[in-house]
Amino acid sequence: MTAGQNSQLMTDNFFKLRKHESSTISGHNVTMFTLTRLTRHTVLVFSFITLCFLFYHSYTHPPNQKGSSFLKSIPEILKPITSPGKHAPPRYKPTPSWLPPPIFDPFPLLATSTADPPPIPEYNIPRPEMHKEYGLDRPPPLFIGFTRQWPMLLQAVVSYITAGWPPENIYVVENTGVHNMNKQGKLTLQNPFYLNHTTLHRLGVTVLQTPVLLTFAQLQNFFLSVAYQDNHPYYFYSHQDVLVFSFEEGLDFISRPADGNWEFYSEAERKEIMSPVQAGKEGYRTIYENCLRDLQTATKRKERWGFRWYQYDHLTLVNREAIEAVGGWDSLIPYYATDCDMNAKMGMDGWTMKPRRVGIINDVSTVLEDLEVLYRNKFKMPKFVDPAPLPPEQEEKIAKAKAEKEQKEKKEKEGKAKRAEGHEMPADQLEYFRVLRGVGDEMGQYKYRDGSEQRNNWQRSQRGGEGEPFYYNADGFHSAFWTLTDAGRRIYEEKWGHRGCDLVSGTSLKLKDQWLVEKDWEKNEDKKG
Ligand SMILES: *[C@@H]1O[C@H](CO)[C@@H](O)[C@H](O)[C@H]1NC(C)=O
Repeated sequence: MTAGQNSQLMTDNFFKLRKHESSTISGHNVTMFTLTRLTRHTVLVFSFITLCFLFYHSYTHPPNQKGSSFLKSIPEILKPITSPGKHAPPRYKPTPSWLPPPIFDPFPLLATSTADPPPIPEYNIPRPEMHKEYGLDRPPPLFIGFTRQWPMLLQAVVSYITAGWPPENIYVVENTGVHNMNKQGKLTLQNPFYLNHTTLHRLGVTVLQTPVLLTFAQLQNFFLSVAYQDNHPYYFYSHQDVLVFSFEEGLDFISRPADGNWEFYSEAERKEIMSPVQAGKEGYRTIYENCLRDLQTATKRKERWGFRWYQYDHLTLVNREAIEAVGGWDSLIPYYATDCDMNAKMGMDGWTMKPRRVGIINDVSTVLEDLEVLYRNKFKMPKFVDPAPLPPEQEEKIAKAKAEKEQKEKKEKEGKAKRAEGHEMPADQLEYFRVLRGVGDEMGQYKYRDGSEQRNNWQRSQRGGEGEPFYYNADGFHSAFWTLTDAGRRIYEEKWGHRGCDLVSGTSLKLKDQWLVEKDWEKNEDKKG
């Protein structure tokens, strides 16, 4: 059963439940109508008097226990509305002096016509039932969670498809909290939570919806829940801010900002993985095929394995059994630090997590101007734009620092081959890929152009949607997100009695020690005093 069918089933069950409820309600109605009008009035009047008494009682005997502030506030509601002018007007925050420009849809071809998406490069077309070649009955799903920023999501999805990931195995998990509004096309592009179901379906991917807005940790548990319901022992998940490629050029020596230290099982394997075959030649494998292969390797080795990371967790392979063994993601550590918690639990319980190499994964904060370049439209030059640039003065400062650094580096390695200039169209497929890959690398570096200060800035680009259903202020969302993140970090520290992500390497804590240990940053004497 596909996850789509499955969520349909869940909805069906839900409807059954609703039907049951409504029939009980109409049963009540029948009894109601047999009561005389007088009895009904008596009941109403009596209820009213009881309520008045309750309110009066709580007003004159305010509860003095802590935690009953809700009860305390009821009498407030009963007080007459204060006459206008008694309180000072709200003090509004100053209007920001700089706002990023409105965003554009990065795939005009799909947005403005009903044409099919263009064909993907021939050598990346997945062979039918490729998973069977790697010993799998069913292809594992790839979950891509989405909360905000449609252009980034669409870019990630299109890059997976054009790199050779079968669209039917891709599940975009809409976690926006706007219920059916996107499905019904009721939000507009400048709304941060905008997502276009039609476009995704036209690309052949499935959209799953979370019933309500979930945090990162809850979303991870949701992936797990779908994997249970759909009977998938393994699944992949990807962040939405990535731009991926297969090793079409063959050898690749670029070190990317979020790369880890790849692990290999043998010297022979290292050699093989570090020298991928060029696209179109015998032995070429796409990122998808490499992922299936890596899954097969992990299972064949009978290792107690938990995660396989393909550039930290930007693309991750998950072994459901491992997550189950350590009790899932801690929902009470909502965002950052929840990964430290999960990885530590896995490490303590002996499940391996290995960085492995399957393809080119760029962790990005910007979007290609036109996603058709991923289909290698030879009339379009790959270029990227920043959907959320910083105020011009700040960008200028960063650009100046970068230019100075480059000038210095250039002097150091004079004579090194020049990168293809932005004006000439690449001559062939391979050359086109080189240019495209180069732009991807630049995008990856751009995200960290100011250290990691600005790496999450992309989340603030869309600011519209006021008046649309389930509207939420964009800055407010951003600010609340960081508050919850901080709270989560504190919960993590309380839970393990330790500060920092190094629970396995820096402490002797065991899985069973959660919530049982004292804080290791407080000295014993302090506590006695
Ligand atoms: C979604 O995209 C389709 C094209 O794929 C377009 O026709 C439609 O207007 C878009 N819907 C919204 C709500 O923007």
